[in-house]
Amino acid sequence: MASEFIVLSHREPYQEIETEDGPRLQRKTNGVFTTLDAVMRSRHGTWIAWKEIDPEHPFQTWIEVPSPRHPDRYNVHRIGLDADEARRFYYEFTSSAIWPVLFSLLDRARFTLDSWETYIRVNQEFADVVCEEAAPNAIVWVNDFHLMLTPELIRRRRPDLTLALFLHTTFPPPDVFAVIPWRKELLRGLLNLDLIGFHIPSYAVNFADTVSRFMGATPSAIAETELMAEGPAVAVPTYPRVIEFEGRRVALGAYPVGVDVPYFAEVAQRPDTRDQAAEIRARTGAETIILSAERLDYVKGAIERLECFERFLERHPEQHSRTSFVQIAVPTRTGMEEFQTMRRRAEEAVGRINGRFGTMEWQPVMHFYGSFAREQLVAFYATADVLWVTPLRDGLNLVVKEYIASRLGSEGVVILSEFAGAAAELREVVLTNPYSPDDMDRALEKALGMNEGERNARMLALRDRVINFDVHKWSQRFLGDVERVGSATGTILTP
Ligand code: UDP
Ligand code: G6P
Repeated sequence: MASEFIVLSHREPYQEIETEDGPRLQRKTNGVFTTLDAVMRSRHGTWIAWKEIDPEHPFQTWIEVPSPRHPDRYNVHRIGLDADEARRFYYEFTSSAIWPVLFSLLDRARFTLDSWETYIRVNQEFADVVCEEAAPNAIVWVNDFHLMLTPELIRRRRPDLTLALFLHTTFPPPDVFAVIPWRKELLRGLLNLDLIGFHIPSYAVNFADTVSRFMGATPSAIAETELMAEGPAVAVPTYPRVIEFEGRRVALGAYPVGVDVPYFAEVAQRPDTRDQAAEIRARTGAETIILSAERLDYVKGAIERLECFERFLERHPEQHSRTSFVQIAVPTRTGMEEFQTMRRRAEEAVGRINGRFGTMEWQPVMHFYGSFAREQLVAFYATADVLWVTPLRDGLNLVVKEYIASRLGSEGVVILSEFAGAAAELREVVLTNPYSPDDMDRALEKALGMNEGERNARMLALRDRVINFDVHKWSQRFLGDVERVGSATGTILTP
């Protein structure tokens, strides 16, 4: 049956894993999944993703998402890629060429013609499936940077469709984007959209600067930000809401993603969550717990944080036995050498710190290499006194909002990198610059030394923001704007 609402996100939301009781579907661990799953369950529709074909197993194109407790299901249409195509598309192009550029870490970027050609082919396959499955005038919502060519490929065959994209990452300034040898092809793909959603205005500014520099496109309809106009590095006062290009208009918007606040509040108050939280605290043997939870990706700054904690323990012998750092490191892109190196470096640092400072009763760093179910993660959120989030750059960072949503009272302090998108929204965090070890040290001291009155005032204000802009408000705003842009004429949205 033709679909009225189609979501493209390169990875499928659930992966098959073998267990003792037979094959089971396991959910993905990242912010895009968390966000889209919540929206898909209420809007239904079709999610299109790729999957590596395993020659040993029959390939199933359609699956329905599992839902033990949830009545709302949706369908996933999978595009099969053989092992070579998957490697070139995912590891060699999207993860090695595009990802480091988006995060302005240029020395990590690698470009090969082979992988670019595969990227074009895979984008074409996605576009073909959309053109066949979309109902007349359907909405097609592309996610992230893996499918930047699809808008142009789809529009050529199906001008009736409304095409929107949400970028869950950052967008860099023009001089950085310039290093991609196929920058013009990628930008032309994006300029075929009706609406591009970014987390925060500064990414829209970077995008507008980039398309005006390289494509001769014209930004207009400058609007004031609803977020912070100055302060953290990611704050800007204004941004363009429209790009004009070859007679079409592309609307731009800033929509920082929210989290499912009622879910986190409900799980946080369950007695078994409280028990688990108490058990975590007991296992650390510490009075104060600092937490980080993220994919073990170089953009997240895990090593910098471990080194900062080591310096803290050097400076503060009186904190030995009293303060522990719990670090959840979720495996990601494990097939790539640099991610394997990251894991080795993190484990070496953990071993060194625990070896230097640990005692029989107290473990300075409790490091978990793995992914926790959301319910378990809430137990960590509930017990942690300080959440420590210091990416070198991050599109938004959902963990910070999930932590705030899980704090039932007014306790808890957040340290946040000024290069995470959420820094443009959450005024009451302790901001830090992860490129500066001195500033990292200062922020940790400040968070740990903050008096109760200030902690409470800050947390209450943070809760206000997170509760008022949750994932449901976010999807209403973003999808409301998608519905309002006309695919034929390119409506300008009024800010
Ligand atoms: N997460 C999880 N289990 C873990 C650690 C993280 O389910 O052990 C989830 C977390 O709840 C959040 C997502 O992973 O929804 C991470 O999103 P974020 O935006 O912080 O980072 P991303 O991985 O998208 O870069
Ligand atoms: C971030 C990006 C996603 C990406 C995810 C995990 O959330 O915005 O597009 O899918 O990280 O990366 P992976 O390589 O596992 O898809």
